[in-house]
Amino acid sequence: MHLTEGEKRVALEQTGNILESYSRERGNLIPILQQVQEKLGYVPLVAMEEVARHLGIPPVDVYSVATFYNQFRLIPPGKHQIKVCMGTACHMKGGNIILDCWKRRLGIDVNEVTPDREFSLERVACVGCCTMAPVTVIDEEVHGKVTPTRVDGLLFSFGVKIPKGQQKEGEAVEQQ
Ligand code: FES
Repeated sequence: MHLTEGEKRVALEQTGNILESYSRERGNLIPILQQVQEKLGYVPLVAMEEVARHLGIPPVDVYSVATFYNQFRLIPPGKHQIKVCMGTACHMKGGNIILDCWKRRLGIDVNEVTPDREFSLERVACVGCCTMAPVTVIDEEVHGKVTPTRVDGLLFSFGVKIPKGQQKEGEAVEQQ
């Protein structure tokens, strides 16, 4: 995903501010990346390059660490963040069907963002509402007992219309 010049500028500014409070020891790498993620919501490549320069290590080393830990997001989150619970209760109640449904409807995989950057999709561990399984959290709002039809309804509430053929596919899944 390409960042706009404005996004790159903000990322560099914020990363620079963060680096001011860290010495050049390699051991600071993870705390720095955590701060960048906290500030920007993700860790872009330009920030990694800046961190590498500060610590005097190859950028590929920073990239390896950022991609190894799945706490780090490498692309900006969507305007609306969709988190599908895949904890035990939600999994037992068909969480994987709901996750597949979101993937198909949005045309993206987990940890991806739609091309218009409206939605990003994540799978998360138990969010603490097991009696409402299967659960999807959208922008911190919890939606329980989600079905494929409900997925369509939620997307509709964001102005996304599902083509008729695809709706039938979702209903068929729901009846299983
Ligand atoms: S397992 Fe999904 S809310 Fe607990």
